[in-house]
Amino acid sequence: MTTSFHRGRRLRSQVALRNLVRETPPLTREDLIMPYFVVETDDTHFQKEIPSMPGQYQLSLASLEEKVSRAVDTGLTSVLLFGIPGQKDEKASGAYGRDGIVQQAVRRLKKRCPTLLVITDVCLCEYMSHGHCGIVDQKGAVLNDPTLPLLAKTAVSHAEAGADMVAPSDMMDGRVACIREALDASGMTDLPILSYAVKYASAFYGPFRDAAESAPAHGDRKTYQMDPGNAREAMIEAMSDIEEGCDALIVKPAGPYGDILSMVSAAVDVPVMAYQVSGEYSMIRAAALNGWINEDAVILESLTGLKRAGARAIISYFTESLLEKDVLR
Ligand code: PBG
Repeated sequence: MTTSFHRGRRLRSQVALRNLVRETPPLTREDLIMPYFVVETDDTHFQKEIPSMPGQYQLSLASLEEKVSRAVDTGLTSVLLFGIPGQKDEKASGAYGRDGIVQQAVRRLKKRCPTLLVITDVCLCEYMSHGHCGIVDQKGAVLNDPTLPLLAKTAVSHAEAGADMVAPSDMMDGRVACIREALDASGMTDLPILSYAVKYASAFYGPFRDAAESAPAHGDRKTYQMDPGNAREAMIEAMSDIEEGCDALIVKPAGPYGDILSMVSAAVDVPVMAYQVSGEYSMIRAAALNGWINEDAVILESLTGLKRAGARAIISYFTESLLEKDVLR
C-alpha cells in the first residue's frame, strides 16, 4: 500500500490519543459568563419565562439572588446583568439612579456571593421610552456626544454599587474614553472596562429585545451598530476602543461572526470574549425542544468553536444549565 498520503486517522484511533493532541483545551467553568435579566417589580418572587428564550427568565431581585446563589453552588463564576426598570423615559433616568434596578442587583449579589464576578451591561436602550441606545432628537436621530455623559454616569453608578467590571454595549463613538475618564475621576482607576467593541446590527438579538423589553419603537440600530458585511471595520473598532482604554473586548454575535472573532483575537493583545447571543441560544433550544438535535453536544460544539476561534471567555445563556448538568471541567 502506498504511503504517499497523509494518514490523519492515526491520531484519532483512541480517546486518550485524541485528547492528547487536541489543540483547543476543553471548556471550563471559568470560561463562561451567564447573563441575567432583573426586573424592577413589587412582586418579590416574580419569575417569568421569556417566550422566545425557553429556559431563560425575567427575575425579581429576590428571584435573581436565589437563582444566582444556586448557580454559584454548581460552579458559576461570572454573571452579566441586564436591568428592566419600572419606568422608562427619554433620558434613561433608571439607568444611572443610585437605586436603579441593576445597582440594587449588584449590591445584593456582591453581598450574597462575594467572590462572584459581577459584570454589568452599560446601555440606555432598556431605560429609554423609545428603546434606542442613546438620546434621540425630534427628527428621530440618535445623538452621539450628548449620550456619552449618561453612559459614563451609568457606568460610575454600577461601579459605586460594587460591580467588578462594566461592559458598554451602546456602540456610541468615544464612550470607552468617556467612561474611563469618569471612573478615574471617581477614584475607580482599577475598575476594568469590557467593551462591546465589535457589535453588529444583528437580527440575532431579536429574542433579547423581548427579554429586555428594549426593541426600538422606530427605526433600527444600523446607524450605530456595525454592518454585517464588514470585517476590516472590526479592526478599526477594536483598535480604537483599545486606544480609548478598554481592558478587554467583546465580539458579538459569536457563531455567525467566527471569522471576525478569529481575526480580532489574533490581532489584539487584550482578552477577547465572544457573546453567543439570544438568537443563537433560541435556535439551538428550539431545535432541541423539537428533538431534532442532541442539545448538550450541539451546545458544547458551538462553544468549543468559539474558543477555537480565539475567544478567551464566552458569554452564553447556556452557562447555568451546563453547570447544573455538570458537563464542564
Ligand atoms: C443592549 C444590548 C443588546 C444585547 C446586549 N446588550 C441588544 C441590542 O443591542 O439590541 C443583545 C444580547 C443578545 O441578543 O443576547 N444594547
